[in-house]
Amino acid sequence: MEPKQTVTSLKSVPLFQDLEEKELRALLAISKTRSYPKDNVLFLQNDPGDSFYLILSGEVKIAILGSDGREYILSFLKSGDFFGEMSLFDSEPRSASVVTTAASSFLVIQRDAFLNHITQAPSMLTKFLSTFSKRLRKTDAQLGDLALLNVHARVVKTLLMLAQASETPTGSGQRIISKRLTHQDLASMVGTTRETVTRILNELKAQGHIVNDGRKMIIHKSLHQYFDTLADSLL
Ligand code: CMP
Repeated sequence: MEPKQTVTSLKSVPLFQDLEEKELRALLAISKTRSYPKDNVLFLQNDPGDSFYLILSGEVKIAILGSDGREYILSFLKSGDFFGEMSLFDSEPRSASVVTTAASSFLVIQRDAFLNHITQAPSMLTKFLSTFSKRLRKTDAQLGDLALLNVHARVVKTLLMLAQASETPTGSGQRIISKRLTHQDLASMVGTTRETVTRILNELKAQGHIVNDGRKMIIHKSLHQYFDTLADSLL
């Protein structure tokens, strides 16, 4: 990638948006660009960690293996997001595995260069803290859901969350989930089996709360009320 172009494109990355052009150039001087196809394992949970990744394009999933051997998806990260910082900050092995879910490119920075650079860039440290707080909040909420909601309610809540994240409201309170997820992906987000997800989705379709439209899923407004009823019944 041509350096000037990259400096310009880095300005739109939230983590770097308060950096001066000179600082961005210094950052580029210590970075490498790497591209990988879909379904490429970048590293596994418990591997030693020696690099930080910023996603330039594409998407990854962050996942851990449960004690039952099942995969649990913590998050999907996309262009502008970063990962791999935890092992660099605490010198522990990787806390999770990271796999590309689309062809992706990354800015990769090695440990020492990364740590030297960010201690000289307070605006980046503030952004790291803000992202950590958001990730912890989300993880706290997921933990609460695992403890308080049954599988049925967790599937419904995950669909509502995915619908919320989609940027295509269709009017009349409907939303579209355009992100392509397999039933296994949903199961790994919710902490259940693929068969259970398939059964629950079929029930939701039969009740008219969701409709498949090609590769998209239309979420009807009624799913919100249905979730409230489910949550109330669990109190
Ligand atoms: P590290 O532990 O080095 O490698 C795995 C990375 O996954 C970790 O750094 C974080 O960048 C990222 N990660 C871990 N847990 C979460 C989470 N709950 N949400 C989003 N990203 C995470």
